[in-house]
Amino acid sequence: MASFSSSTATPVAVAFLVLLIIGSSSAQLSTNFYSKSCPKLLPTVKSVVQSAISKEARMGASLLRLFFHDCFVNGCDGSILLDDTSSFTGEKRAGPNLNSARGFDVVDNIKSAVENACPGVVSCADLLAIAARDSVVTLGGPNWNVKLGRRDARTASQAAANNGIPSPTSNLNALISRFSALGLSTKDMVALSGSHTIGQARCTTFRARIYNETNIDSSFAKTRQGSCPSTAGSGDNNLAPLDLQTPAAFDNNYYKNLVSRKGLLHSDQQLFNGGSTDSIVRQYSSSPSTFTADFAAAMIKMGDISPLTGSKGEIRKNCRKLN
Ligand code: HEM
Ligand SMILES: *[C@@H]1O[C@H](CO)[C@@H](O)[C@H](O)[C@H]1NC(C)=O
Repeated sequence: MASFSSSTATPVAVAFLVLLIIGSSSAQLSTNFYSKSCPKLLPTVKSVVQSAISKEARMGASLLRLFFHDCFVNGCDGSILLDDTSSFTGEKRAGPNLNSARGFDVVDNIKSAVENACPGVVSCADLLAIAARDSVVTLGGPNWNVKLGRRDARTASQAAANNGIPSPTSNLNALISRFSALGLSTKDMVALSGSHTIGQARCTTFRARIYNETNIDSSFAKTRQGSCPSTAGSGDNNLAPLDLQTPAAFDNNYYKNLVSRKGLLHSDQQLFNGGSTDSIVRQYSSSPSTFTADFAAAMIKMGDISPLTGSKGEIRKNCRKLN
């Protein structure tokens, strides 16, 4: 502090700080963004999420994934929620989402409940961020304060969804580089992948792994082959849990599976296959608290990807349609 007490340095430093704060605050999210305009927001969302998960535990996984697929395509802007129309092609029919992304009806229920409480105030993009957090908490994972203030896109891009969402055939370098392009570190990537401790995957996404790969536990591969025929086109939509042990509990079993070569997706096992991320996987497999802390921090970082703020975009009335 002593060096700032000089009479010329202090005003310059203060002016600089003020500019810094003004310059960044217009584009920044905050945890109290709706505290005046929609004080009942958080309990309203949580009760819809909890009731959806009590009907079907998997829904927590599906809602978490929607937030990921939103943020990785032109930022967390609610673009994934837009329905296709005869004159508009959105992201729902992009490869990574078609016959796979789910939970849109629950998002509609969340939106109606929130519109009842405070009409026209809360964006669909923010509802996805809150629903993802509530899903993780409801399934036994960590809590964190969700940053809010995102606005909803007036556009969506099927091509950007096809290119931007990582494929289960990705190798480690591709995973690292896609997350890095969005400002997420390798550690963030490994921590966020721990989301695969909940939810299900379709046979078509793991067939090649269970029949043709060698870095897989053979009895695990046999078990999975039992409900995923080797012929492409047959049983493509048959489901298997991403975490064979506790698919409805948000814990660190995903990493224990990887260490025992029981990752379901090719991309999962890439995180523990003799490469640079093995040490992180081992750490998360033995320290649940390190995993949950890193996961929560990485979710906040993912939620910061290119939000629309200020007067950009809109607050959609119906998450499926532009106003
Ligand atoms: C690292 C790159 C990733 C790849 C390649 C990937 C790929 C996949 C695939 C192929 C599925 C199965 C989809 C299906 O068969 O319908 C899936 C499911 C899932 N993914 Fe990922 N994912 C990745 C990262 C993430 C991240 C970062 C999150 C969340 C932050 C996430 C959350 C989920 C969840 C929760 C499910 C289960 C969804 C359900 O049961 O409805 N994934 N992922
Ligand atoms: C396994 O590899 C062989 C040889 O490359 C290929 O013909 C076959 O289609 C693959 N099977 C699966 C299920 O991917």
